[in-house]
Amino acid sequence: MKPLRIALTKGRLEEKTVEMLEKIGLDCSAVHNKGRRLILPIGNGEIEVVLAKANDVITYVEHGVCDLGVVGKDTILEKGGSYYELLNLGFGKCRFALAGPKGTDFFSGYRAKTIASKYPNVARSYFENKAMDVRIIKIEGSVELAPLLGLSDAIVDIVETGSTLKENGLEVIDTVCTISARLIANTASLKLRKSEIEALVEKMERVKEEQA
Ligand code: PRP
Repeated sequence: MKPLRIALTKGRLEEKTVEMLEKIGLDCSAVHNKGRRLILPIGNGEIEVVLAKANDVITYVEHGVCDLGVVGKDTILEKGGSYYELLNLGFGKCRFALAGPKGTDFFSGYRAKTIASKYPNVARSYFENKAMDVRIIKIEGSVELAPLLGLSDAIVDIVETGSTLKENGLEVIDTVCTISARLIANTASLKLRKSEIEALVEKMERVKEEQA
């Protein structure tokens, strides 16, 4: 049978995900010694790991070229799509927050505010729920710059330790929602490779409980 293929998000979640895979007993030496290789066999070769950008993890899982994926809830909320969210892995914890210059009363006044975000869909739905009319500008990174440069009144962004906000004179105005890493699955894979996926999920759940 061909290996079960898992797409992992490169960067912030990578280390914790590999740690989790090792804790469930899979030899991940190929990932540690990957060099420039992009598809890496782990365990006894029954699983293959693919390292990809968060949005691409979802794309690969949706199209079924990867059976499973590990991706942040932030990307899931922003990108949507059709796949199963199987498990909250419990690591990669942070939150989406509305933040702005320290001391400003964001919710006062009637002028429509401008919001900068790398996550325009998340920002839009937050303000829709509040029935607030805002203008949203998409920024690709270091969104904290937008209010500092005078482009926006506030931002909707990921806050982990809060130091980026603090060091730039910004503060959280409101928490939008909490975020953590999730295990997602292709809908067909979940039927076709049910027992393998279920066994893996069970082991991951056990590790998660031990860590709690
Ligand atoms: C994220 C986020 C903030 C920062 C928050 O950016 O957009 O800028 O981390 O972390 P903190 O609360 O611990 O300071 P990331 O480093 O992922 O890069 P990006 O700006 O390119 O999105």
